[in-house]
Amino acid sequence: MSSGERSVAKPVTVRDFHSKKERGEKLVLCTAYDALFGRLVDESGVDGILVGDSVGMVHAGFSSTLPVTLDQMIYHGAAARRGVTRAMLIIDMPFLTYQVSVDDALRNCGRVMQETLAQGVKLEGGTDEVVAAIRGVTRLGVPVMGHLGFTPQSVHALGGFRVQGRTSDDAARLIDEARRVEDAGAFAIVLELLPADVAAEVSGAVAIPTIGIGAGASCDGQVLVLPDLLGLNDRFNPKFLKRYASLAGDVRAAVQRFAEDVRAGRYPDGDHSF
Ligand code: KIV
Repeated sequence: MSSGERSVAKPVTVRDFHSKKERGEKLVLCTAYDALFGRLVDESGVDGILVGDSVGMVHAGFSSTLPVTLDQMIYHGAAARRGVTRAMLIIDMPFLTYQVSVDDALRNCGRVMQETLAQGVKLEGGTDEVVAAIRGVTRLGVPVMGHLGFTPQSVHALGGFRVQGRTSDDAARLIDEARRVEDAGAFAIVLELLPADVAAEVSGAVAIPTIGIGAGASCDGQVLVLPDLLGLNDRFNPKFLKRYASLAGDVRAAVQRFAEDVRAGRYPDGDHSF
């Protein structure tokens, strides 16, 4: 298949997530927020694509994910859907759309599924309210991914962007939360910013796959935010991040070369004119 052709491979489902954990095969996810990058990432063969509310920080320039709205997530989710045909597409539920009541969670998650045609949603946290929301939404027939450890929508309560689970009490609480999220019906759990040994314990305590970001190598899979992985978001330098390209420099250099050509009268030339 040439690089421009669309994949017609069988779509990834929750069953593939479970069987990969059973077989000890690592799951690979990354974010995408639109049709163009959704297609490119899908063609690279990842298992899952997350339309993260990180879009609010990485693309909209907010300092946290809190300002992101349901309509914005639906816009980005529906756009990504138009590019993604194979990977499981999961949409982040933004702040205040699932924590207030189970009714709210059902209506908002239902709306996301209906309007984006994604295959699942992600909800942050392990409080009673969130566990009740996960239980309700999975009973509606919607696959739910949990998210524990550093939960970005609680950034202010957690005292900033910090590694969680450092004390034995915190680690025990996380294991308990992971079991409760699993029991409520989640098909996978993102573990963000945890010491590697704590993430390993959590991963061993649940039968569903854990997907780590800054949580060591023992998770059942890994997720990265696409502009971080591509080196586009070059002002974000956490210890866990490995960059697989340096596109920020490429963007600046390409636009500078374009500007130089225009100013020098080299572009457009005869080859690029009608
Ligand atoms: O919003 C997001 O991109 C996420 C990932 C960091 C897992 O939740």
